[in-house]
Amino acid sequence: MGKLDGQVAIVTGAGRGLGRSYALHLARLGARVAVCDVDLHSYAEFDAEAAAMTADSTVHEIQAAGGEALGFELDVADRDAVFAMVEDVRGTWGRVDVLVANAGGGRGRPADTTASKVPPELFDLVLKMNLYGTYHCCSAVAPIMREQRSGRIVTVASYAGKVAGVGGGYAHYGTAKAAIAHYTRNLAQELGPFGINVNCIAPGVIATARIVKLVGGSTGSNSAADDIALRRYGSPEECARVIEFLATDLSDYVTGALIPIDGGWNRSD
Ligand SMILES: NC(=O)c1ccc[n+]([C@@H]2O[C@H](COP(=O)([O-])OP(=O)(O)OC[C@H]3O[C@@H](n4cnc5c(N)ncnc54)[C@H](O)[C@@H]3O)[C@@H](O)[C@H]2O)c1
Repeated sequence: MGKLDGQVAIVTGAGRGLGRSYALHLARLGARVAVCDVDLHSYAEFDAEAAAMTADSTVHEIQAAGGEALGFELDVADRDAVFAMVEDVRGTWGRVDVLVANAGGGRGRPADTTASKVPPELFDLVLKMNLYGTYHCCSAVAPIMREQRSGRIVTVASYAGKVAGVGGGYAHYGTAKAAIAHYTRNLAQELGPFGINVNCIAPGVIATARIVKLVGGSTGSNSAADDIALRRYGSPEECARVIEFLATDLSDYVTGALIPIDGGWNRSD
């Protein structure tokens, strides 16, 4: 018996990286998983992500392991597409128990995205893919979970949503992630009376293929991790285990929380 047998999960941004790890982990726990991404083959952008794949997509990886999965290619910033996807999931599987609103990320270089200089088109794009995408996904699953009087929503912020970037760089991303954390607190208050838990994770430096390419290093001990208490970067699996905690009865009395997964990062710049 898996902890999530009979349950239905939606994971956005699940084509690669952390989202893929969450989708595979929830499927291993027994959930049927809707794998959503703007590009279900986004792993192809990074050699290490492509090398880690055991099938053509996260959907096929889950199916090959004996699980149930559906694939949806959509932009989470497109509210109509998000609502249509959620309706499709409910139409097929009859319910929605878990949402991991993981899709997102930054754009541009820190030096070009300081608080007053970030170009409006980048500010708009990053707010849409992170904050608006999260808001659309949460709004679409909330009525279903309310009707069920149960559900688990996990949103994704970042260390960058708590601590300003060096010189104010990547301000659009940090702003979007800080807003997601506060949106989550409000959503938890709204949905708590219906038996729905809503929490937010704030990863630090997690060694996905994209991050390894960007900053170097790995999950092991790393000299670049001197200001991280555990002296190493995190792994996608370590984040997935926190998702397990938040998606199962292990966290029954936890809601409205912001949970750092950052190895005790305490930037000293
Ligand atoms: N990796 C880290 O160290 C780290 C740290 C803090 C926060 N995060 C957050 O965790 C999440 C996942 O990060 P990752 O490192 O796996 O990133 P990633 O770029 O490797 O993967 C993100 C996935 O989301 C998809 N995506 C992006 N925009 C989308 C959109 N508008 N609609 C649908 N899908 C979209 C991409 O195609 C990709 O498959 C992001 O929200 C990111 O901001 C990551």
